[in-house]
Amino acid sequence: MSGLAAARSPNKSAGNPWDRDAARGIVQEHRNLEGALLPILHALNEHFGYVDAEAVPIIADELNLSRAEVHGVISFYHDFRKEPAGRHVVKVCRAEACQSMDGRTLETHVAKRLKAEFGATSADRNFTLEAVYCLGLCACSPALMVDGELHARVTPARFDAIIADLTGGKS
Ligand code: FES
Repeated sequence: MSGLAAARSPNKSAGNPWDRDAARGIVQEHRNLEGALLPILHALNEHFGYVDAEAVPIIADELNLSRAEVHGVISFYHDFRKEPAGRHVVKVCRAEACQSMDGRTLETHVAKRLKAEFGATSADRNFTLEAVYCLGLCACSPALMVDGELHARVTPARFDAIIADLTGGKS
C-alpha cells in the first residue's frame, strides 16, 4: 500500500462517476446560454472532475458543432481535465513571483513527494499534480493550493507537513 494513502475526506474536484445521462442533462441545461460551449465544459468539469471523451459527441450534437471544434477547445484550456482527478489535487504556482522565491525547488520536491508528474496523477491515484500561473499570493510566494485551500510561503518542509496533515500522518 502506498505510504501516502489519503485519510481526510476526498477532494471535491475528484467529482462524480461518469454518467452519460447526467452529462446530457448538464449540456441541455446550459445549451441556450450565449457562448454555451465554455459554460458547458466548466459545468461538466465541475460535476465529474473532468470532461470525459464521451461528452464530446453529446456536446457537438447539442450545439451543432464538429467534434474537432469541441476537442480543440478542451485541449486549449488547461482547466479541463481529460481524465478523472486523483483523490487530492495539488496545484503549484509556476508564475514569476513564485519562481523568484525558489519555486523551482518546491516544484521538484512536490513532484517527488507525490510521485506524480505535473499534469498527471500518481500511480496510486491519490494525488493529481497541476501547474497554475498565479494564485494571487505573489507577495507571499511561493504558493500552492491543496484541494482548493491556498497555502503561502511554502517550503518543502511545510509542504510535507501539509501532506502529513492531509493523509493523517501516514507517509
Ligand atoms: S506568482 Fe505565484 S501566486 Fe502570484
